[in-house]
Amino acid sequence: MFLKDPKAISLLKKDHRAVDKLFLQYETAETPQDKVDVVQEICQALMLHAHIEEKLFYPALRGKVKADLLDEAFVEHESLKELIAKIDGKGPDDAYFDAHVTVLREYVHHHVKEEEGQIMKEAEASNVDLDDLGEKLEALKLKLEQKIGQMEPEGQHKHVEVLQMDGRGIRHH
Ligand SMILES: [Fe+2]
Ligand SMILES: [Fe+2]
Repeated sequence: MFLKDPKAISLLKKDHRAVDKLFLQYETAETPQDKVDVVQEICQALMLHAHIEEKLFYPALRGKVKADLLDEAFVEHESLKELIAKIDGKGPDDAYFDAHVTVLREYVHHHVKEEEGQIMKEAEASNVDLDDLGEKLEALKLKLEQKIGQMEPEGQHKHVEVLQMDGRGIRHH
């Protein structure tokens, strides 16, 4: 019998797999427009995911999981966002577009491996209520997705605006 992952873990892992799939879609995208569309989806998915982790997941684990793991995860998010900013709203005509997408994919892969292999393992061994935390992650994600959906379609970088309005996560306690 397999034990089900607690809700916070299953939700975040599901996000990770969804982004893996989008990167695969990018590889097989045939037209420049298809590439632009997939990259837009990747950027939004990653930004939303990083946001809910920074606002709720990582802070809930402070004091429960090794501090340097959480600090590194925060710093990796910063680097990921710099890469995302270079391709967000851009297309294959931009310099190094494919290269940025490839490096982003490799970087995400590395980050996810550490998150699932170390942070989540320690979180599951701790006394943090990961089902309750999962409910909160889900509620915040839904709220943000609804806000993004309500914005004017011509608004560029809708997710960036919505996430800025929601405020940053707390890096240190
Ligand atoms: Fe992360
Ligand atoms: Fe993650």
